[in-house]
Amino acid sequence: MSSPSPAVPAHVAIIMDGNGRWAKSRGLPRIEGHRRGVESVRTATYAARDLGVKMLTLYAFSVENWSRPPNEVGALMGLLELYLKKELATFVRDRVRLRTIGRTDELPAGVQKHLRATIEETRHFTDYTLVLALNYGARTEVVDAARAYAAAVAAGREKLNDSSWGTFSRYLTTADLPDPDLVIRTSGEKRVSNFLLLQAAYAEFVFTPVLWPDFTKSDLAAALAEFATRERRFGLTSEQLRPAAK
Ligand code: FPP
Repeated sequence: MSSPSPAVPAHVAIIMDGNGRWAKSRGLPRIEGHRRGVESVRTATYAARDLGVKMLTLYAFSVENWSRPPNEVGALMGLLELYLKKELATFVRDRVRLRTIGRTDELPAGVQKHLRATIEETRHFTDYTLVLALNYGARTEVVDAARAYAAAVAAGREKLNDSSWGTFSRYLTTADLPDPDLVIRTSGEKRVSNFLLLQAAYAEFVFTPVLWPDFTKSDLAAALAEFATRERRFGLTSEQLRPAAK
C-alpha cells in the first residue's frame, strides 16, 4: 500500500467561491467577479501542475446555480464557452487533459460543442487532468446513479446481492476518477454545497478566506502545505498507520 499521507495530494478539488463579493467590494457588477474568476481558473490549472498535483477538479457550475438571475446564468455560460474556445490550443500545447463531471447534456449547445472538441483533442494526455464540474450536484448524481444501477439490476447486468461501493460507484459521474485527496473552498465559507459528497468521504478540507478572483499560486501552495501536516487515517488508528510511533 502506498503511504496513506503523501506530501502532495494527487487530486485537489476546489469550490471556487467569492466572485460576487470580490466584484461588490469594488463597486463592479457580479459578472466582473466571474470574469476575474476565469483568470484564477487559468492560474490554478498551471499552479497545481507545477506543485505536483495530477488532477484538479473545479466546481464551475452547480445544478443549483441555474436558479441565479437569468442574466448571471447567461453570462457564466458565455464565459465558459469563451474560455473553452480560447483554451483548446493551450491545453493541447501543454498536454492538459480536460474532463467533466455533471449533467453536461443540459448545457447550452455551444458549450457542449466546445467541451466535446476539447475532451476529444486532449483525451490521450496522461500526466495531468483538469476536471470541470458543470451542472454538477452530488444529490442529482446519486439519484442518476441509483436509477442507472436499478435499470442494470432489472436487466440482469448487476446482481443486487453483490451490491457494494465498488459496483455502485461505477454509475456515478466520477466513475473512473480517483477520489479527491484535498478539497479547498475559498472566500471564508465553510460549507460543502453539494460537491463530491461521497467522493470526499476521506478528503482533507482546507478553507481559505481568499476570494476566488484573488486566489494565487502561493494560496494553493499554502493549502498544500496545510495538507502535508495532516495525518490521513481512513478509519484506522495512528498506531496502525505508523507502528513505530508512540
Ligand atoms: C462562486 O462565486 C462562483 C461561481 C458560482 C461560479 C464559478 C465560475 C467561475 C470561476 C468562472 C467560470 C468558470 C470557468 C471554468 C470558465 P459566487 O458568485 O457565489 O460569489 P459570492 O458568494 O461572493 O456571491
